[in-house]
Amino acid sequence: MADAMEKIVSLCKRRGFIFPGSEIYGGLANSWDYGPLGTELKRNIADAWWKRFVRERSDMVGIDAAIIMNPKVWEASGHLAEFTDPLVECKKCHERFRADQVDMKKPCGNCEAKESFTVPKNFNLMFKTFLGATEDASAVAYLRGELAQAMFVDFKLVQETSRQRIPFGIAQQGKCFRNEITPGNFTFRTREFNLMEFEYFVHPQEWEKWFEYWLEEMKAWLRFCGVNSKNLVFHEIPDGDRAHYSRRTIDIEYHYPFGQKELYGLAYRTDYDLKRHTEKSGVDLSYTDPDTKEKYIPHVIEPTFGIDRTLLVVLLEAYREEGEGEERRMYLKLPALLAPYKAAIFPLLKNKPELVAKAEEVYKALKQDFAVAWDDRGNIGKRYYSQDEIGTPYCITVDFDTLEKGDVTVRDRDTAKQERVKIQELESFLREKISKT
Ligand code: GAP
Repeated sequence: MADAMEKIVSLCKRRGFIFPGSEIYGGLANSWDYGPLGTELKRNIADAWWKRFVRERSDMVGIDAAIIMNPKVWEASGHLAEFTDPLVECKKCHERFRADQVDMKKPCGNCEAKESFTVPKNFNLMFKTFLGATEDASAVAYLRGELAQAMFVDFKLVQETSRQRIPFGIAQQGKCFRNEITPGNFTFRTREFNLMEFEYFVHPQEWEKWFEYWLEEMKAWLRFCGVNSKNLVFHEIPDGDRAHYSRRTIDIEYHYPFGQKELYGLAYRTDYDLKRHTEKSGVDLSYTDPDTKEKYIPHVIEPTFGIDRTLLVVLLEAYREEGEGEERRMYLKLPALLAPYKAAIFPLLKNKPELVAKAEEVYKALKQDFAVAWDDRGNIGKRYYSQDEIGTPYCITVDFDTLEKGDVTVRDRDTAKQERVKIQELESFLREKISKT
């Protein structure tokens, strides 16, 4: 299974999905740059999520808040005191590990020293920085460790300006930062990562109903991403193991090649955050029901989705190898809506100007509406191979018949079947196919 991970990492580098960060300087451990195809894929995931959970709903609005917030936010939210992982240190080599990831009875994984670990102590994950020219306590600030706090701090402003009534949600996407003790497993755990999450504000008596509702919605999203439910585990987090703000959490875990680990989380945050911010800021963040006049602090259901983990899982699920000998091929069975390119356009022969000109016409027309690729290298078989590898759902070839009849060959990535489609129908053909994914 670890083999599957090696194949994905190698494909990502070879085809420009994800590169090691700062590579020409020897890299920076656990930092990754999304290349041209990875950027398209990541954007498509984020856009599909936004469309599904914000634009298509009337009970959800979005914000795009500052990454650096007033440090009082993190004090009030409990992150400065509680956002910690237990850490142990090897007394010999001083390497640090997450206590929940080492067997204390075994030798140090770095220097092999026996019985060398310190007792666990809590290590705060917030990324500290200084604002402006002075580096003293008054200038300390933090890069956000989660998106959620802006949705709480801005709750009143958003509710009033958008005239939303409870139940409703505030959504956000963006970078978060955590000073992880043991990042690793490619993009699974990094110190800066991309998150999409929303806080869904409900009446206190309705939290259970909405918790179940959002769990089903998260499952539906994962189906849309092409994730096989057999690879998912819904882990009810027991008392004592949940984050400090949560009264119920289900971690949605995935069978990665490196083990069963968290993909997403669904938490019932009660009124913990709005209450704390009301107390600490002095601003009343309660809500008054316009019909019943009942005044209360809303409770919160929080579905949270890591973008980098989504992308990794989408690639792992899409990876296919099939056939024997000459017929052997590898392809990415990506949902068409997520694929970096929706189609690739080929002139059958590169040295026939009339074919190249017609193919360019098709390419330029489709480029207005879709992300499309151009390829005129080598033979058609090699071009199919190359597009299969990056998950392009359709390959469109302009040949001599095109010049006479105005149609092209469209080859389907998954079935490798070919059909003729009129050039003027290509746009609606692609639109219809993509909408079905
Ligand atoms: N607001 C809730 C929250 O942040 P979390 O479980 O700590 O909850 C949310 O993180 C999601 O962010 C996780 O389910 C995971 O998908 C992703 N995530 C967390 N830490 C990460 C890291 N170091 N690298 C990449 N993704 C991470």
